[in-house]
Amino acid sequence: MGDVSEPIVVMGICGSYDLDSANGRMLEIMLEECEALGAETVIWDHGSYPLPLVGAEGCWEDENVKGFQEMAISADAFVLSSPEYHGTMSGVMKNSLDWLYSKHTSGKVFGLICTLGGQSSNNTLNHMRIAARWIHGWVTPEQVAVPNIKHAFEEDGSLVDESIKSRVIDMASSIVHNTVKLRR
Ligand SMILES: Cc1cc2nc3c(=O)[nH]c(=O)nc-3n(C[C@H](O)[C@H](O)[C@H](O)COP(=O)(O)O)c2cc1C
Repeated sequence: MGDVSEPIVVMGICGSYDLDSANGRMLEIMLEECEALGAETVIWDHGSYPLPLVGAEGCWEDENVKGFQEMAISADAFVLSSPEYHGTMSGVMKNSLDWLYSKHTSGKVFGLICTLGGQSSNNTLNHMRIAARWIHGWVTPEQVAVPNIKHAFEEDGSLVDESIKSRVIDMASSIVHNTVKLRR
């Protein structure tokens, strides 16, 4: 990681292919809050640059994988936002994490978001927490679950629920401030 006077870079990883999705929107909202605190942000676009499944033919030489890993190396922190699928993170999110090793992520901060069609649950958040720990990430205690996702956003894309908005603000603050602390 670079000089403390340089802005930190926060990378968003979406568990939905399309960034025009609830998780793409949650990443935008979270990264805007990080930017308000002085961070630079980037998002990997799975729709334009899909990652092959780990182990698929040709995957070890795949240019999208190289680009994804280079973006991860350049980042100081990560935000993971995944839909809950059958009680856990989506395959897109798991495969994205499978392409990251501790050489890309060790000692870096992770913030976690999940969206649910149904009631709030910590399963997906806990599963992503374990995976991030496995690649030596420091996961913030703050985390955000967005239940009843079909009713979670206003027409302008802002969050309906004030308590979720305040969780987003707290998590962005934790990501940025803890990343700066770890970079010292
Ligand atoms: C295969 C599949 C499994 C799902 N499983 C769950 C689930 O276990 N719990 C839940 O609350 N919602 C479940 N959902 C609803 C998704 O969580 C919801 O559609 C998603 O959070 C919306 O985010 P997106 O717009 O980024 O796709 C499931 C949806 C799909 C397609």
